[in-house]
Amino acid sequence: MKGILSELIYESSLEKFKEITKEEIKNLLETPANPMFGDYSLPCFYLAKVYKMAPKSIAEDIEAAVKSKDTEGLLTDIKVVNGFLNFYLNSEVHLKKLIFDGRKEDFGCKKIGDGRIVCIDYSSPNIAKNFHVGHLRTTLIGNSLYRIFSNLGYQVIRINHLGDWGTQFGKLIVAYRKWSTKEEVEEKGIEELLRIYIKFNQESEQHPELKEEARSWFVKMEQGEAEAISIWKWFKEISMLEFERIYRMLGISFDYYTGESFYMDKVPDLVQELKEKHLLKQSDGAQIVELDHFGMAPCMILKKDGGSIYHSRDIAAVLYRKKQYHFDKCIYVTGLEQKLHFEQIFQVIQLMGYEWHQDLIHVPYGLVRLQGVKLSSRTGTIVYAEELLAEAIRRAYELIQQKNPGLEKKEEVANQIGIGAIIFHDLFHQRIKDVDFSWDEVLSFEGTTGPYVQYTYARAKSILKKAENKFKKDKVDVSLLKEDATYSLIKILSEYKEVIYEAANRYEPSVIARYTISLSTVFNKFYQECNILNAEERLKNARLFVVDLTCEIIKDAMGLLGIECPEEM
Ligand code: ARG
Repeated sequence: MKGILSELIYESSLEKFKEITKEEIKNLLETPANPMFGDYSLPCFYLAKVYKMAPKSIAEDIEAAVKSKDTEGLLTDIKVVNGFLNFYLNSEVHLKKLIFDGRKEDFGCKKIGDGRIVCIDYSSPNIAKNFHVGHLRTTLIGNSLYRIFSNLGYQVIRINHLGDWGTQFGKLIVAYRKWSTKEEVEEKGIEELLRIYIKFNQESEQHPELKEEARSWFVKMEQGEAEAISIWKWFKEISMLEFERIYRMLGISFDYYTGESFYMDKVPDLVQELKEKHLLKQSDGAQIVELDHFGMAPCMILKKDGGSIYHSRDIAAVLYRKKQYHFDKCIYVTGLEQKLHFEQIFQVIQLMGYEWHQDLIHVPYGLVRLQGVKLSSRTGTIVYAEELLAEAIRRAYELIQQKNPGLEKKEEVANQIGIGAIIFHDLFHQRIKDVDFSWDEVLSFEGTTGPYVQYTYARAKSILKKAENKFKKDKVDVSLLKEDATYSLIKILSEYKEVIYEAANRYEPSVIARYTISLSTVFNKFYQECNILNAEERLKNARLFVVDLTCEIIKDAMGLLGIECPEEM
């Protein structure tokens, strides 16, 4: 609805708004907390600055213009109050617009992306390291962005840039040959790889020759020597088993698992190109691109020993993606601590003369802490993702046993609730904020949680079921939907499209999570105040229609977060 109103405001004052865009008007519109101040309110202070006028007089100008342009009678009143322009909507015209114009099959979103290509690089865990709750964040945010952008009509390519190359694998090979066996690794998986990796780090303090040995194994890997490669490949398979279990639980998949090792043989071409463009400098035997003009540390391309590093593999990766997928945007979801890394990469791409450096977007997120400390397997402050998911499912199952023991498909529903709780909790936080992890909070099913939204959905579904889904979508008498609780519900339903845009523009799934909570609260109020099933036929039909629309939007919105909604719970 904001869209329709901002359009009306913009169109009516076209002459005036040369310096302002329609988008800006839309962003300025607020929803007053107190309905006394209208359905929407436009603060005129910013406009007053741009046009060097008093807020009151610009408000009056806009008021007159909008009044003369509103031939459809969308507004019942406009008031100027202290530099604010308050708009009162005609609920009947408004409702008609919302229900009959505003609601296309895909909520009218597909045109935005228009098939353009977006790469999203997310999850990307490191091989032979445990997948802990910190990794869940990139995984869940990335997955939600994939769904949001697909919903807007973009073609999204999901890339898992596995951390599967680097000197640590030389260490791991030495450690494996000294302190482990095939059976143990096969049985215990990543846990065993982690154990021997930690042991290597301890032992090599006293026995520096171990480090030498590790280095030579990594050189063998880089040269493609058969034994080194086969052990490394096997470590990767062992790790993937665990990662895939987690992805399966979360309902997440990727188009490509092209990890760092995939770009190894693409680094020499990059080095060549950098040389030709006179960007490569020697520094202490290493090859770097200087970035001090931009206030950044240099970006290393090749180490002293000539090997590639994280940075050069990332640059090779983005060149490959551009050539291969012709992306319109390439999005990276990682922790905030990699901010500088991506600034360096993007800067090098710009120095190489590629206009499209502007289409590279780093989407950072805050740390997950446990009782105030950063997660670390070395100090034991760690929560494994798999353990957390299993516990959430277990608790959900217990709850079902207590509250609804007769429920069909209990296990499936327990999965949906448990996993839903974890995903929702993660995405509800603004992504940049640090999260203090608490088992009780994450596994709570009440308040602002996923299960609360799921429960609202199941409740709405049960009303439709009781009415045997008998209502006529094309015979809704809009004049019957004007009482406060219904009108508020329809108003919030109508904001859904804008909510998706905002989430996409800000790369911020929490916008959608928060919206589902508000929608549920407003729906539950409507449910309490308005009798649905025993209302008179025409009223019942109109109300059922609204219930159905609510179900549709909750399900769609939760889907954008990667959460399923059980029909019954
Ligand atoms: N493997 C890295 C880590 O765990 C994340 C990789 C992110 N993607 C990228 N293209 N650098 O920190």
